[in-house]
Amino acid sequence: MHRGIFLTVEGGEGAGKTSVITLVSEFLSSSGYSVVTSREPGGIEIAEQIRSIILDTNHTKMEARTEALLYAAARRQHLVEKIVPALEQGQVVICDRFIDSSLAYQGYARGLGIDEVLTINQFAIDRLFPDLTLYLDVRPEEGLRRIHSRQGREINRLDLESLSFHQKVREGYLQLAERFADRIVIIDANRSMDEVFVDVKEQLQSFLDKQKP
Ligand code: TYD
Repeated sequence: MHRGIFLTVEGGEGAGKTSVITLVSEFLSSSGYSVVTSREPGGIEIAEQIRSIILDTNHTKMEARTEALLYAAARRQHLVEKIVPALEQGQVVICDRFIDSSLAYQGYARGLGIDEVLTINQFAIDRLFPDLTLYLDVRPEEGLRRIHSRQGREINRLDLESLSFHQKVREGYLQLAERFADRIVIIDANRSMDEVFVDVKEQLQSFLDKQKP
């Protein structure tokens, strides 16, 4: 059994994951935890290479199952090379996206089926589900508005999807939050980062309190 804590942060485009991860990381570090942050798809060399294949805007021919399998493959390598060793050393791992992204994007929004995508991902993660997942829930209109007002951010293939796709992603996440209510908490991310972080801190604290023997 691992001794560390595995946290994931999930959300649609422009939900504010990056800011929340920075804040959570600072909060936990200042509370004495040793923190490692990572992201998916990517986090390590092999997975970053798979990421560049998946997110290449020229790859318009990429079929939905191919995409789902590539995400799962990148996840496996990232888990084995980076997440598991950090947890074994007792660290807190904060990962920007993990299995729930595949379930919401490929499983629900792309229509492959949450259960089908869960099956291939169970093969990939071998029961290593996050201990806590913060789902930053933002209306797609607000999320996309934030992204496009940010200067210099690269537009990837998935950003080009229609608003209705992002709406489906959100519906998928909300279903997952109900199904995996024991580990997923919903944070209302339509508000300012200060307000969001008050909630995030509260959720983290109550999670940490439950971990104490
Ligand atoms: P990225 O630029 O990292 O987006 P973000 O800043 O929103 O995290 O690109 C990651 C994209 O990959 C994002 O659109 C979500 C998508 N994705 C999936 O569809 N399935 C997955 O399993 C993962 C990890 C990401």
